[in-house]
Order: sequence, then C-alpha cells, then structure tokens
Amino acid sequence: MEVMDVHSWSQPERIRVRHLELNLDVRFDRKILEGSVTLRFDATTEPELVLDTRDLEIHSVENAAGFELGARDAILGAPLRIQLAQGCSWVRVRYSTSPDASGLQWLDPAQTAGKRYPFLYTQSQAIHARSWIPLQDTPGVRVTFQGRVRAPAGLHAVMAAERAGEHFRMQRPVPSYLIALAAGALEFKPLGERCGVFAEAELIDTAAREFADTEAMVRAVEGMYGPYRWGRYDLLVLPPSFPFGGMENPCLTFATPTILAGDKSLVSLVAHELAHSWSGNLVTNATWSDFWLNEGFTVYLERRILEKVYGQDREEMEAVLGRRELDREMAGLPEPDRVLHLELTGRDPDDGCTLVPYEKGALLLRTIEREVGRDRFDAFLRSYFDHFAFQSITTADFLDYLRRELPVTTALDEWIYRPGVPLDAAEPRSDAFQRIEAAAARWQQGQAIDTSGWSTQLWLHFLRTLDTPDQARLDREFHLTDATNSEILHQWLLMAVRSGYEPAFPRMEEFLKTVGRRKFLKPLYTELMKTPAGKERARRIYQSARAGYHPIAQTTIDALVGGA
Ligand code: BES
Ligand code: ZN
Repeated sequence: MEVMDVHSWSQPERIRVRHLELNLDVRFDRKILEGSVTLRFDATTEPELVLDTRDLEIHSVENAAGFELGARDAILGAPLRIQLAQGCSWVRVRYSTSPDASGLQWLDPAQTAGKRYPFLYTQSQAIHARSWIPLQDTPGVRVTFQGRVRAPAGLHAVMAAERAGEHFRMQRPVPSYLIALAAGALEFKPLGERCGVFAEAELIDTAAREFADTEAMVRAVEGMYGPYRWGRYDLLVLPPSFPFGGMENPCLTFATPTILAGDKSLVSLVAHELAHSWSGNLVTNATWSDFWLNEGFTVYLERRILEKVYGQDREEMEAVLGRRELDREMAGLPEPDRVLHLELTGRDPDDGCTLVPYEKGALLLRTIEREVGRDRFDAFLRSYFDHFAFQSITTADFLDYLRRELPVTTALDEWIYRPGVPLDAAEPRSDAFQRIEAAAARWQQGQAIDTSGWSTQLWLHFLRTLDTPDQARLDREFHLTDATNSEILHQWLLMAVRSGYEPAFPRMEEFLKTVGRRKFLKPLYTELMKTPAGKERARRIYQSARAGYHPIAQTTIDALVGGA
C-alpha cells in the first residue's frame, strides 16, 4: 500500500530512488557545500523525476532531457522536476547550497572549543536534508549511499556511515533524514571494540570518560532486542550551539556537549540515541505523523537500557521525571497536539516535536508491558524489529501487527488518536523521589537538609517539587547559580526567571549566549516573555545570541521573541 507523505514533493510511487553518490566540497570560505549527487533508480518509463530542494542552486542535471525548479513553498521548499528519457535509471545533479541552508550550521572558530578552526555540521531531521542534497526527502524512501567529502587541510570530515578517509559508504538502506555530515578539528578516541568518540581535542578525554559505558549499553540492547546491525557505534560531540540533545545518525550519533556533566548523569541521551538503532533507524516512521513510532519506542528502550546498565532506581527516577514533564508540557498544548498520531498537513513537522510522542508514546508501551508481562512484551518487540527491519511503517502497520501478534485490551485507539493520557496508564514511581519530597517539605519549613551525594535526578526532582521557593536561601546553602550540570542549571535559571531572582541573571545571559540547545532555550525565552522587563531582557539577549543559534533554533525563538 502506498503511503502519502504531505511533507515531500517527490512521488515515490512513480520512481523510487535506491542509491545516492554524493561528491561534495566543504567551502568554509563561502559557507557552502558544492558538488554533485548521482541518484540511481530502477530503469523507468516515467517522464519525470521530482526531487525535494530548499534554497539550492542547481547548476546542471546530467543524463536528463531538462529540468525546472518550481515555486518555493515556505515549509516544503521547491520541487525540482527532472525530465527523463525512456529507460533512464540515473541522473546527476550539480549544485551548491545556500549559506542560510536550514539543515547546515556553519560555525566561526569562536563558537568551537578550540577557537581556531571553523566547524560545520548537518541536521537533516525532519525535512532539512533537502537543503543540502536534492533528493526524495521523505522517511518512506530508503537509500544506500556512497559519499566523498573534501574539507580544507587540517579539518576532519565525517559522515554517518562506514568511513575510510574522505570516502564513506552506507550499505544498509536509510531514510534521508539520517544522512549526516560534519567537519571540524576533530580527534577520535576508541571506547571499546565497536565504539568510539569524535570531539575537538579540548573535549576528547572528558567525552571518552563520560561515554565509557557505551559498549555496555550496546550489549544491553542486543541482549533484549537482537543484534546491532550497523557495524560501528560512535559518538560525535558537537559545539554547544547544536539545537538538540542528540541525533541518531547511523553509526555516528551527534550529541550536544551539555551532557558532559563529569559524572555520567546525563548519559540517558546516549542510551536514547543508541536505542534509535532499533526504533527509528531499523524500523522507521513512514511519515512525520507517525513520529511517535520513532520516539515513543525509543524512550521506552532508553529506559530499559538505563535499568540494565545503572539499575532500577535510576530507571524509575528518569521515568517519573519524564512523566511529570509530559504533564507540564501537555497542559499548555492545544488538544490536537496531545494525540500520538499527529495531523500535520500544512504544518512544519518540527512543530509536532513535543514531549507527547516521546513520553506518552513510551507510556503506552509501558502500559502494554504491564498488561502482557515483560517477557511476552520483549519477545513481541524483538519480533517487531525483525519483521519490519529496514522498512518504513505507519501507525496502522504497527497496530495491525500488534493486534495480530499480541492481542491486548489496552484502549489503543484512545491512546493513539485521542488527546491526553488515558486513566489506565502505567504510572512510574520512585521511592528515592518520595524521600526527596519529604526532604523538600522539611526544607520549606526552614530546616537544614543533607544533600551530600545527591544525583542530578534527585536535584531536579527537589527543585521541581519546591516550585517557587526562596532562591536566595537555596543559593546560600547550595550555590546553585554556580551549578555546572546543564540540566540543574537550566532548572535553576527557569525558576530564577519565574521569581525574578536577579543574582542568577548574568549566568542566564551567558548560558543563552553560548548554548543553542532548543530544549533549554525555548522554556527560558518563553518564561522571560511573560513580563515587560523579561521581554526587554529577552530581546536584548536574543539580539546578540541569535547569530550563534542554528537556523532551527532561530525559527523557534523568532516565533517567541520576534525575528532578527
Ligand atoms: N531524533 C531526535 C531529534 C530530533 C527530533 C531532531 C525531531 C529533529 C526533529 C533525537 O533522537 C531526540 O529525541 N533527541 C532528544 C533527546 C532525547 C534524550 C529525548 C533531544 O534532542 O532533546
Ligand atoms: Zn529520539
């Protein structure tokens, strides 16, 4: 059955591209990628191949009877219509990108750890691959690819694929949103047999220590859900402007440096991106409306990894934190955004990226697990990954398979198509957090409490339990304005904006000017915009911070604060 993806101009039911050959020069001098892509498909009698593009300059198309770039749609970009001769099975497009490409960030040396070399990275999910490669930019189409990337001397280019010098190869079919490239002054350090980390020299040892458990994580998932099918699993630490926590590019997860806490307390992100090697990269959402199949399954797997590697307490804390954040965010969302299967026609798929697909999705799987028991659910998941391996599937495909293989009484349609969390949801609980709630109550009554040895998760729960406390007293006792853990600091700054706690504002300004992670920016700017003085502060900070943010973060914050 053909699946319609409203976020692509391409018509894969007519021609399906199967293989790409990329040949690109990284031009830091002009902030462009320049080169060609060869697209291969089964010999066809179709008169026209339609590709997605956004802000590309098309220089020529080889092996074609002609081409035409259509009108640019604000969300979708412009279709590139290529006229084909009878029996055609390939075309080669010569092109260059725009310095403002939505899927690229070009960093000045000042924005890197080393301050000496520029940096480039791509972020293709959801529909930004089209801003740096003309292709069928839909997760319903999978391609193998080869790449050759030339970067200036002294810089190291990497693609999320098998690597050999400046040559890259992906032999397993992947959706376009997983094609990725980075270039910078990168070093590599092995973490184990299959795992390693790329980072700038300044961060490489810290990163290797933080991610020392990666190989154990890979083995943990393999024990539950079958072999890791992508060869190597490496991580790439990006500069702090990276707009996400992590991105599950195959063979090479891209990660924010804000998870380098020094105590492995934020490595749930590694567990998450690694889990995508099964949920997402192996079994892929066919359209962005099915995004919860990627993220909900991945959060469920992430927590199972945490439980295996760090124990049940840690898993329970993360699950409760996630559950609380879901409620908090959902309260501010319109009803259509509280469902799992999203209606995104006419919308940018980046808009659907709330905690709902993540946490409500994971909660549904947890609820099914509670009903059928962990052993049966694990067996089901393992067979699901095998059955749909290297395929792109819809919510309906999942439901058909589940109803056939594992009939349940859980109200699936209600979970997936109706807003909110159903009353039968499996509720995570944490004993450790109950002790924190008691400590918070004592502290509120003016008593001293012993916080020595508290983990990041305990601190987060403590602060969120207090809500609007006496921040000056907290600062005197616990020095939270000096926190170096990005999650704790972010929580602290959020509270400072809410209560107008001035002593934390210089730290907030510095944070907003160096970190571009959208999950941190959005709540802080949103909170600032609630008062006239905050608005003024937000505008002033954003005016100087904006240029350092990724185009995706700029779009988000423009909508909150107002554009450039
Ligand atoms: N694939 C997502 C990132 C993403 C989603 C990019 C949608 C573009 C559009 C990635 O796996 C992810 O979920 N990252 C999270 C971290 C995670 C631990 C919840 C993030 O970046 O915050
Ligand atoms: Zn994810």
